[in-house]
Amino acid sequence: MPDQASSTPARRAAELRAQLLQHAHRYYVLDDPEIPDADYDRLFQELQAIEAAHPELLTQDSPTRRVIGAVLDGLAPVRHQVPMLSIHTETDTTPAGAEKFDARVRKALALDQSAPPLAYHAELKFDGLAINLRYERGDLVQAATRGDGETGEDVTHTVRMIATLPKRLRGADAVRAAAIEVRGEVFMRRDDFEALNQRQRKLIESGARGEKTFVNPRNAAAGVVRQLDAGKAAKRPLSFFAYGLGEVDGWALPATQGELLAALKRLGVPVSDASAVVRGAAGLVGYHERIAARRDGLPFDIDGIVYKVDELALQERLGFKSREPRWACAHKYPAQEQTTLVRDIDIQVGRTGKLTPVAKLEPVFVGGTTVSNATLHNEDETRRKDVRIGDTVIVRRAGDVIPEVVGVVLERRPVPIGEPFDLYKKLAGKCPICASAITREEGEVDWRCSGGLFCPAQRKQAILHFAQRRALDIEGLGDKLVDQLVDSGLVGTLPDLYRLVLASLMALERMGEKSAVNLLAGLEGSKRTSFARFLYGLGIRHVGETTAKDLAKHFGNIDRLMAAGVEQLLEVNDVGPIVARSLRTFFDQAHNVEVVEQLRAAGLSWPETEGVAVDAVPKPLAGKTFVLTGTLPTLSRDDAKDRIEAAGGKVSGSVSKKTHFVVAGTEAGAKLDKANELGITVLDEAALRAMLPNP
Ligand code: IVH
Repeated sequence: MPDQASSTPARRAAELRAQLLQHAHRYYVLDDPEIPDADYDRLFQELQAIEAAHPELLTQDSPTRRVIGAVLDGLAPVRHQVPMLSIHTETDTTPAGAEKFDARVRKALALDQSAPPLAYHAELKFDGLAINLRYERGDLVQAATRGDGETGEDVTHTVRMIATLPKRLRGADAVRAAAIEVRGEVFMRRDDFEALNQRQRKLIESGARGEKTFVNPRNAAAGVVRQLDAGKAAKRPLSFFAYGLGEVDGWALPATQGELLAALKRLGVPVSDASAVVRGAAGLVGYHERIAARRDGLPFDIDGIVYKVDELALQERLGFKSREPRWACAHKYPAQEQTTLVRDIDIQVGRTGKLTPVAKLEPVFVGGTTVSNATLHNEDETRRKDVRIGDTVIVRRAGDVIPEVVGVVLERRPVPIGEPFDLYKKLAGKCPICASAITREEGEVDWRCSGGLFCPAQRKQAILHFAQRRALDIEGLGDKLVDQLVDSGLVGTLPDLYRLVLASLMALERMGEKSAVNLLAGLEGSKRTSFARFLYGLGIRHVGETTAKDLAKHFGNIDRLMAAGVEQLLEVNDVGPIVARSLRTFFDQAHNVEVVEQLRAAGLSWPETEGVAVDAVPKPLAGKTFVLTGTLPTLSRDDAKDRIEAAGGKVSGSVSKKTHFVVAGTEAGAKLDKANELGITVLDEAALRAMLPNP
């Protein structure tokens, strides 16, 4: 603790500012606060008091002004000491682009044919936004956007939240320097972007106002940097790579661009390791091609390469032409976003029965390939973006991510246009592959085909599930073989497995006699099984291993189970309405019953029992009403509801005098307050479990 009495108000204010920013960083960025909130508040109030008594000490970036978690009025302008210029862009994406740059540089330097090739520094062109970081005596004092090149915006409060960015430079020479301005790109990694949008979608689904999804990582990065609320920015991870300098005062410059970046790295500044020193036009072309091959695998978007004359003295000699350096050039790659026309909206059936709307597009060249399909994710997403047949849309394909429609260009929407997208209507309620009923459960975003093992789109998955160790345990039946069996047409349904014979197996490519014999033995061995394994193997949605065991024990025989109505199913331990409905939907499809019959006819058998008498099932919560609020440590809302209902209880959405128990998790809100007000018993998850027959 510094000696407060002997420090001047100015020194103490600076100290407090540094500490507060440090603590805010640990709190918001690292999720690892060092001090309790109350201590933070005390430091904060001390600083406020000093600033009130000495207004001349108030700084632009003081945490008391850039209140973390609060909304600021606007971003302050920052005049750049050295203008932030842009560079010439070579839009010819072929090798000729690089050759033209080399030729221009050689001409400007008056080099003839016989002069040796020049050394260039080739770098990735990060697709984010340019930022100037000003360090004074080693401390990060200001971060500013490029703006118009002369004047940018002060974004110190958000840029400070970038975890990898040093708030203080390493090394004695940097700390001695009056000023070092580091320039580089702030961007968002693709995985961070996907996660952010995922969170945003959830927020929107849960009814949050003023939230939106971002169209691409660049947009998201710019949005986060220009956020007024630093606390919000802290939760949206950004990255940074340095590529150059602004004003430098009191720090010795190295001789080349390559050495400059190496020096910045030693100071602790993030620098990409993908740059290279190359020679001549051939070197530039080679680098452009090497990176093109790696582009999809990079964790972030790049829109091209930047070539720079490596030697700083030569850069100086080359100088500028109409505000663009002659010594640098951007060489683009094909864009990762394009606009095109939606010809139709198809619905694809995934391996698990999930139905995904897919835009059928006028083919367009994007991200290096021709794209004619782009995912729309799900019905809600399609409606939110309001994508309709005939619309012009922005399609994005970056990395190995599936091409997606990021938005509609509404100005180009034709009149008249068709109705908003309606998945159920479009499919008339039937799976486009097997015509089974489609369902969408409460609280879920996806529609699904209920065909299960009957649906050809789900066949391979269904067979693998059936064959797995915890189900029928068919030895020798792995995913490669399932692919072969289904693709060759030998197996279409589960009963087909038991119709396989040696001759047909031997006709398969790469199938030896030994493996064929093994598979047949595995199939034969799987025929004697248990009711629970068989039931689990059918792959009925929401029927996991434990539920299958409970059902098997309760009913004892499959005919009784198949005939049971929802009411009877609800009598089973831990079976709630969701599981009950799923079982009913499954056995209501004649083709599923047929599969069961055929498997039995093929010789599958298991010991049967009388089952459990209905009145033996305990209903300890009968007559009790529960309300759930907040997030429970392990049970999801649906699970908790299911278990309470399975034990005979009722779950209601709002707290009233009739409520018997409120089950509260973290972030419980108004319902908990109401419960306390009315004196209703509040339970945590452990207490709820203790009341269940099967904790
Ligand atoms: S050098 C005077 N190097 O691309 C030269 N720029 O106009 C200053 N960019 O908006 C730019 N990666 O933000 C340079 N490795 C890189 C870069 C890069 C991305 C951005 C920069 C600017 C634009 C160039």
